[in-house]
Amino acid sequence: MEHKQLDQFPEDFLWGSASAAYQVEGAWNGDGKGVSVWDEFVRIPNKTFKGTNGNVAVDHYHRYKEDIALMAEQGLKTYRFSVAWTRIFPNGRGEINEAGLQFYKDLVDELIVHNIEPMLTLYHWDLPQALQDEYQGWESRNIIEDFTNYATTLFEAFRGKVNYWVSLNEQNIFTSLGYLMAAHPPGVTDSKRFYEVNHIANLVNASVIKKFHDMEMPGKIGPSFAYTPNYSLDSNPVNVLAAEDTEELNANFWMDVYLYGKYPIVAMKYLKDRGLAPTFEAGDEELLAAAKPDFLGINYYQSATDVFNPTDGVGLGKMNTTGKKGSSEESGTPGVSKRVENPFVERTNWDWEIDPQGLRIALRRITSRYRIPVMITENGLGEYDKLTEDNQIHDDYRINYLESHVHAIREAITDGATVLGYCTWSYTDLLSWLNGYQKRYGFVYVDRDEEEGKTMNRYKKDSYYWYQKVIAENGNNC
Ligand code: BG6
Repeated sequence: MEHKQLDQFPEDFLWGSASAAYQVEGAWNGDGKGVSVWDEFVRIPNKTFKGTNGNVAVDHYHRYKEDIALMAEQGLKTYRFSVAWTRIFPNGRGEINEAGLQFYKDLVDELIVHNIEPMLTLYHWDLPQALQDEYQGWESRNIIEDFTNYATTLFEAFRGKVNYWVSLNEQNIFTSLGYLMAAHPPGVTDSKRFYEVNHIANLVNASVIKKFHDMEMPGKIGPSFAYTPNYSLDSNPVNVLAAEDTEELNANFWMDVYLYGKYPIVAMKYLKDRGLAPTFEAGDEELLAAAKPDFLGINYYQSATDVFNPTDGVGLGKMNTTGKKGSSEESGTPGVSKRVENPFVERTNWDWEIDPQGLRIALRRITSRYRIPVMITENGLGEYDKLTEDNQIHDDYRINYLESHVHAIREAITDGATVLGYCTWSYTDLLSWLNGYQKRYGFVYVDRDEEEGKTMNRYKKDSYYWYQKVIAENGNNC
């Protein structure tokens, strides 16, 4: 629908930006930090672009004050960061590593001094390797107790200082890339294990959210879900059903559990018929039902367009991690759907479709189905950037991407969605997991590339100044 006039963004709207520990901190074994599954995984040949890793990343561990000063100058209202579990408990549990905890205490205090609301993600994929070795990490229910204990330590340490908490970042991504596509640790391809792991992750998520509420923590907590809304390629009913099935299996399958405490009916029947349904133990249903997030975090990058894919059709294909446009492989679920190019949108050099309307559609679907406030915890454009001789970065393509998405949020608010804030991905440039350092997302350019040894100097991109203005105007000219 078209509105004659758009609503204003709420006065307390949280204009923010985000990062994750492994992607920015570096100091991978500093101050008593333990080894995470990512510290190990990147050492396996050919897993990441040119063998890049986060050993040094963009050295945020030592430069956080400089980074926060840039945030403050820009006017950022919130900064979303994650805590590395292995800095707090090097082996996943046991004695607290006080030096590791101190880093985050200092970071949080520095943000508060600059009037920036800290938004703390408990888990952004860097599981302690010790727990992987001991009980296979997410494959064991032991992780429920260890994770809840880790989270409780942070709740106690930051009560009253951190008001926004994200439980799990993109459970759908770390479980599927870890256990279906073998692209993330532990590098497994096994549907049965994937659904079991995902169920245990649901229990972990519910356990920490329940704990947060039982402890009467001030503030709000919710998971961040990577939502890629599905469209049918056309009005062929076979393709419409394929898109609906994909929405059921790839989206409702997570969001229904978070918000209704139950798996969606069609998806669960599909899994049972194929012997893939997760194992329920006594108390699981009650735990899932007892945990209600205060908001739903959404990481939105793109939409997906689907057609029907027969049972002998294509399976999961490899992603483009090189930045060579058009190099991603065909991908689908036999008997369900296959992803195809949307003829109406542009693509990035990593083949991600650019679709701001998709964000509006995502916000409206969530609003109608769940009636829950949304925090946009990630949205951004990964692209090549060029540092000019006079240290400028003219990233008009990023400004266009972000501006059109901010406009889509404003339209969704006018449609009736409640949106609490918007975190761009990312604040500084950082390590893009499988894609190295050349896929840049930040407002702040960092002088480093695939090789170590450059200055790590920070430079403001054109998008930095654009966002500074957006924040000053509370988004009302977008
Ligand atoms: C999300 C993650 O999947 O998307 C981030 O939460 C990640 O950690 C971001 O960096 C962009 O993905 P990529 O693969 O381009 O780094």
